[in-house]
Amino acid sequence: MNNPLLEVTHLNRHIVQNGKTVNIINDISYQFFNKIIYTIIGPSGAGKSSLLRLINRLDEPTSGDILFHGKSFGRYSPCELRRKVGYLFQSPYLFEHTVRDNLLYANKKLSDRELLFLMEEVNLKPDFLQRAINNLSEGEKQRVALARLLATKPEIILLDEPTSALDPSATQTIEQLVKDIVIREELTALVVTHHPEQALRIGQEALLLVGGKIIEAGQVEQVINNPQTKSGQLYKARELK
Ligand SMILES: Nc1ncnc2c1ncn2[C@@H]1O[C@H](COP(=O)(O)OP(=O)(O)OP(=O)(O)O)[C@@H](O)[C@H]1O
Ligand SMILES: [Mg+2]
Repeated sequence: MNNPLLEVTHLNRHIVQNGKTVNIINDISYQFFNKIIYTIIGPSGAGKSSLLRLINRLDEPTSGDILFHGKSFGRYSPCELRRKVGYLFQSPYLFEHTVRDNLLYANKKLSDRELLFLMEEVNLKPDFLQRAINNLSEGEKQRVALARLLATKPEIILLDEPTSALDPSATQTIEQLVKDIVIREELTALVVTHHPEQALRIGQEALLLVGGKIIEAGQVEQVINNPQTKSGQLYKARELK
């Protein structure tokens, strides 16, 4: 079997709230392999975003480790890591000015040809490069955010509810783009979603998180349609919010 691209081992993140310690990530261990779309599902407050933030080094674990290519995160510079492991926020995090400015901000070495290629990757016409961010629709902004994510040539993309602000048609576009890009660029994606149907549409594997723990993991159909645990069955029955 291949080596995992990313591995989390006994990952914990504890925070102190009103004098009480809360385990928002609770002893999570998992191996992520190359060229697979993993979906991370679970009720609100389960720790989905917290897990992605640890994997992008936006937060530090209380204990445990994260290995990328078998090497501990601590041995990479945060900059290098954020180029290789890109994070897409729920609402596009773009600054005013043009699409081109936003892409160059991510990677100032991009040539004109590479800029055009990025537009092509997210199905936007070349003249979008000159467009001001403020004049774009939410769906277009999310596509620019995706292009900006790809501008650093990442190996892993972390998407936190990438379609939650979008209408059904823009949602479908983003879902298809993510699937196409992962195959074309041979990436690995971890996609947080609130919608089991979305996980089934785009994911190969799923991790069900409840209370900061992995409750079920494996093939997406299995995790969503045939859960083995009580919590997994409650989630399927929509009884965990
Ligand atoms: N910086 C923080 N300070 C205090 N509590 C936090 C912090 N970050 C996360 N939490 C708490 O940790 C838990 C997990 O939060 P997280 O945002 O990871 O959940 P989530 O699964 O992404 O939920 P949602 O589906 O609503 O986005 C929640 O109870 C949240 O209130
Ligand atoms: Mg979240």
